[in-house]
Amino acid sequence: MVVNLLRDDVTVFPFSEKHNTDSFNCTNHDLNDFLKNDALENQEQMVSRTYVCCYENQLVGFYTLTTDIIEVKHVENPHRWDDYKHKKYPAIKLARLAVDSRFEGNGVGRLLLSAAVSIALNVSKQVGCRYMTVDAKKDAIGFYEKYGFTIVEKTISKNEPSLYLSILSTVENF
Ligand SMILES: CC(C)(COP(=O)(O)OP(=O)(O)OC[C@H]1O[C@@H](n2cnc3c(N)ncnc32)[C@H](O)[C@@H]1OP(=O)(O)O)[C@@H](O)C(=O)NCCC(=O)NCCS
Repeated sequence: MVVNLLRDDVTVFPFSEKHNTDSFNCTNHDLNDFLKNDALENQEQMVSRTYVCCYENQLVGFYTLTTDIIEVKHVENPHRWDDYKHKKYPAIKLARLAVDSRFEGNGVGRLLLSAAVSIALNVSKQVGCRYMTVDAKKDAIGFYEKYGFTIVEKTISKNEPSLYLSILSTVENF
């Protein structure tokens, strides 16, 4: 059964043991497995932070953030590297993002991505963080490009190509 919902009905929370993940089922087995078996432990180990969104007490999507670093040679303006004073820049990595398949196509993915970018923006104001990065499932590349992410050319042939978003230039895509 596919469920239609309004984005205003969906709320995002930091993930904790009180959230029931049993019914969560996106189209990617590894992402389901990560949420159910690894997300909490990674959080306790301070490796990553997971956020979930719920609709009527049901967990309908999640994303996970960790830190990353991006080399200038992989980012925009390849002919203007002189504009960059450093060879590497700090980034927040969107390590996981998934929406329960029964709830796809309702704007939940966009809501979660927007919430993740918003966290990266806030972090950047406190500790410095220039980019958001993601290693995308091939089917999801178009989703990220829609919201301003650029693919790293040399990773195109990889199983999970890398994309980046400059958070220097706002979140207006959302
Ligand atoms: C990719 C995913 C997160 C999108 O979530 P969603 O809730 O269905 O997406 P939304 O409804 O918020 O879509 C927002 C917009 O992105 C577009 N979009 C959604 N999925 C897309 C895709 N795979 N490719 C291109 N565009 C996509 C939608 O058409 C919509 O555009 P519109 O506003 O012009 O109509 C979801 O399909 C998913 O969890 N897939 C399985 C796991 C996965 O691949 N995760 C990504 C890991 S890198």
